[in-house]
Amino acid sequence: MIGRIGVSPQLLLGFSLGVLLSASYSEICSILSRLLGVRDDDSKFEGGKIQMTSEEAEVVKKEIRVGVEGLIGNTPLMKIKSLSDATGCEILAKVEMMNPGGSAKDRIALAIVERAEAEGHLRPNSGDVVYEGTSGSTGISLAMICRAKGYRAHICLPDDTSTEKVDLLEKLGAEVEKVPPASIVDKRQYVNRARSRAMERNNDESIEGRGLFADQFENEANWKAHYDHTGPEIYRQTGGHVDVVVAGAGTGGTISGVSRYLKRRLPDMKVVLADPPGSGLYNKVKYGVMFDIMEREGTRRRHQVDTLVEGIGINRITRNFDVGRPLVDDAIRVTDEESLAMAKFLVEHDGLFVGSSTAVNCVAAAKFALKIGPGHTIVTIICDSGTRHLSKFWKAVGPISGELAASSLEDILDLSSTTSTSRTNTPVNR
Ligand SMILES: Cc1ncc(COP(=O)(O)O)c(C=O)c1O
Repeated sequence: MIGRIGVSPQLLLGFSLGVLLSASYSEICSILSRLLGVRDDDSKFEGGKIQMTSEEAEVVKKEIRVGVEGLIGNTPLMKIKSLSDATGCEILAKVEMMNPGGSAKDRIALAIVERAEAEGHLRPNSGDVVYEGTSGSTGISLAMICRAKGYRAHICLPDDTSTEKVDLLEKLGAEVEKVPPASIVDKRQYVNRARSRAMERNNDESIEGRGLFADQFENEANWKAHYDHTGPEIYRQTGGHVDVVVAGAGTGGTISGVSRYLKRRLPDMKVVLADPPGSGLYNKVKYGVMFDIMEREGTRRRHQVDTLVEGIGINRITRNFDVGRPLVDDAIRVTDEESLAMAKFLVEHDGLFVGSSTAVNCVAAAKFALKIGPGHTIVTIICDSGTRHLSKFWKAVGPISGELAASSLEDILDLSSTTSTSRTNTPVNR
């Protein structure tokens, strides 16, 4: 062919070499890939294609979380700018609402189920049912974990539980049993009902599958989950600089587990309980007596703890609170008015939409910051999002104005309980 049109092989070779020598490396690659019919992606990007390094490949492997269980924990620690600016303290919050089930209860639900599996009380896909009495997030976390691990969930709750929680439980496929609100000494009370439902199942040989009463209030897997994970995470994320931890107590698992871990690391760190109206824990911590004025004879209202706040506050000492009780140094009482105002304040200043127990935590954290003075690091918990509290707590918050917020922290807090010691720079040792 070459010979036929009269071009010598030497000339052709010389021409080709000339072209090659005058072309850049990327041009040669591009010419060759075009000749070979390979699509040239590299040429689309300046500098060519970036290859994955072996270190990157390792990170990718580690970053894949397995199942919803794999998404639990390692939540971020967030600086709340408005509260930090207003108090001069660094106010940090563990964002537990970023767990897949939307709250810190994912940690304990997983721990309770895994412990029961390890002890042989639960076997996946064998018809086993987990029972719990809960008006809060624990039911949602248990329902989620049960789905993921091959169990059924049966949740007993008071019949006035907010509709968004009941709906969510049902959408997760949990069996929901509503009971009238009652005292803990009443066997129809929702926690007692869940316990007896588990017993009924276990006593009836004809029913397939065993029953497990999760028992979040007394089950030690609860505080241990926070001791093993939440506490160490806070220690790492702060580089070991924590002066104060502020948390409310529902079962007491969070405050006990976190305190038990962090106080071993930081013995001078202070632990402060944030307590809503009607709860007896404030008096227990301050004066050693479990009594609240709202509980006095003849004034007992319908609910055990009468407040708009859900999830924290209690009038008995649970096992999970008791194991951390000696480590709680102080308590701050938070009114419903303050927590409503704080919820609004956090949206207006930070765009942060939180639930009622988080608002209580933030009020107590801010009050304690003002009491001890600037320069300290205070860690609190963002327990869940405001979306779980739209029909009750957030309804009472009222409308949020489109105007940029002008309210100051002092405007929204009743500082009468803290003003006597306010800004006295009480030293808190690291
Ligand atoms: C929304 C919310 N916040 C806080 C808590 C308190 O956590 P703990 O039970 O660990 O004391 C609970 C407990 O039920 C809760 O539901």
